[in-house]
Amino acid sequence: MCPINNGNERIQSNKSSILSPEEIKAIESWISQMGKYFFETARQKMVTAKKTLKFKYKLIGHGDNRVVYDLNNGYVLKIALSEVGLIGNANEAYLYNNCNEEVQKYLCPVKEFGSGWIIMKKMDINVPLTIMKYKKLIELELECLRYDIIPIDLRLANVAFSEDNEMVIIDYGLFIMDLKSPVLRWFV
Ligand SMILES: Nc1ncnc2c1ncn2[C@@H]1O[C@H](COP(=O)(O)OP(=O)(O)O)[C@@H](O)[C@H]1O
Ligand SMILES: [Mg+2]
Repeated sequence: MCPINNGNERIQSNKSSILSPEEIKAIESWISQMGKYFFETARQKMVTAKKTLKFKYKLIGHGDNRVVYDLNNGYVLKIALSEVGLIGNANEAYLYNNCNEEVQKYLCPVKEFGSGWIIMKKMDINVPLTIMKYKKLIELELECLRYDIIPIDLRLANVAFSEDNEMVIIDYGLFIMDLKSPVLRWFV
């Protein structure tokens, strides 16, 4: 488990209070072979990752860079499908643990983070969209900018809702906060 990430850690500890050692091993095995599928589509990578991981959990989503499982305990597990996914996980752990609390309240809480994976609170992704939600998305964007965070890739597919019906950002893997932000490793 690695709840605090100060941005200097390139190698994370790989222990979890939620995942079993076998599950961690399965993730490590997938991450070690992920590079072979570089030229495949995100969907193909997701199918291959699912077959390799053989998890009992329900797969509830995927984007271009991560596959997401419902851990059935109020949390989701996001596993990298690509190098950008690895960086995105590290970036989210860093941002959540180091950002201003005014911004943190809009970020989906990070529970644990390890090499190639991150566990976050499960949010409601099935809320119908209304014009108010577009307005809220713009407000969230401005709020990030106000605290010097560049919210790259903030869009409706990357937000969800808390129990109090508040909009929360579930994918902030590409946000840039400062020079220590793991996402900047992509450029060096
Ligand atoms: N915290 C969460 N709660 C519920 N669903 C989630 C959560 N995080 C991600 N998802 C689902 O998984 C999808 C992909 O996750 P995301 O973090 O956007 O991956 P990527 O970095 O590949 O874009 C989301 O669009 C959403 O449907
Ligand atoms: Mg996304």
